[in-house]
Amino acid sequence: MDNDTPYPRQLALQCAAVFIVLSLAWPYCLLRQQTLPWLESSLLIGALAFLLASLTHQYWWWRVIHAVFAPAVVFFSGLNIAPEWYLAVFASMFLVYRGAIGNQVPLYLSNRETVRALGRLLADTPVGKFIDLGAGTGSVVCALAGTRTDIQVFGVENSYLPWVIGLLRAARLKNCHWTLGSFWQVSLTDYDVVYAFLSPAPMERLWLKAKHEMRPGALFISNSFNVPEVEAADEIEVDDSRKTRLYCYRL
Ligand SMILES: C[S@@+](CC[C@H](N)C(=O)[O-])C[C@H]1O[C@@H](n2cnc3c(N)ncnc32)[C@H](O)[C@@H]1O
Repeated sequence: MDNDTPYPRQLALQCAAVFIVLSLAWPYCLLRQQTLPWLESSLLIGALAFLLASLTHQYWWWRVIHAVFAPAVVFFSGLNIAPEWYLAVFASMFLVYRGAIGNQVPLYLSNRETVRALGRLLADTPVGKFIDLGAGTGSVVCALAGTRTDIQVFGVENSYLPWVIGLLRAARLKNCHWTLGSFWQVSLTDYDVVYAFLSPAPMERLWLKAKHEMRPGALFISNSFNVPEVEAADEIEVDDSRKTRLYCYRL
């Protein structure tokens, strides 16, 4: 994995909830000569795991995962689904959401309004090379490469299925360079504009990388997620329903 991951912490939280609930519920049921009620116990585990995650200030999506994990395990194990189906679901999720492992960045795409706003921003910016870090299915790079044939546009994506889709879309665009891999392994030295639409999790580390590698005067644009404790040179509010913000940082 190419980033500091919180997985051991999340595993410890879930295990703590399981241990606390079962170490009380099991002896209680034994004393009363009852069988353990798995569904109720799993609901208690979910509630306690949610509480522990909230008390330790985990991101909201981790709290939700903690709340539903144990009840979901009990629920699905009662459905007698063949194990191959779990494997198939896991494999499909891995093909699409590999970026969520390690970086906590799932796949969701920049909308058309944002791509248009980026186009307008770049019209006023001297740019030879543009890169989208975590380029998804190529929605930004392909649109940009199509309209700005004077720019070399690069995209790097580490999830297999989005990468294949982007590869097909980029194939007809001569100025579009599409790579499978991790953006942590890409040097940002050559790029005039670096674009990222990720999540809060990697922003601090990504900013350190940008500061270290990008040239003075180059532009770092983050869609929706600001760099903590760094003031953006400009903030653009996109005219879309989710009021997307583009945070622009000059190196
Ligand atoms: C929120 S999506 C944004 C997609 C695209 N940039 C857009 O704006 O439409 C973020 C993408 O980053 C990818 N990703 C996450 N970590 C990555 C990494 N270390 N290297 C390359 N891509 C990564 C995810 O797989 C996901 O497709």
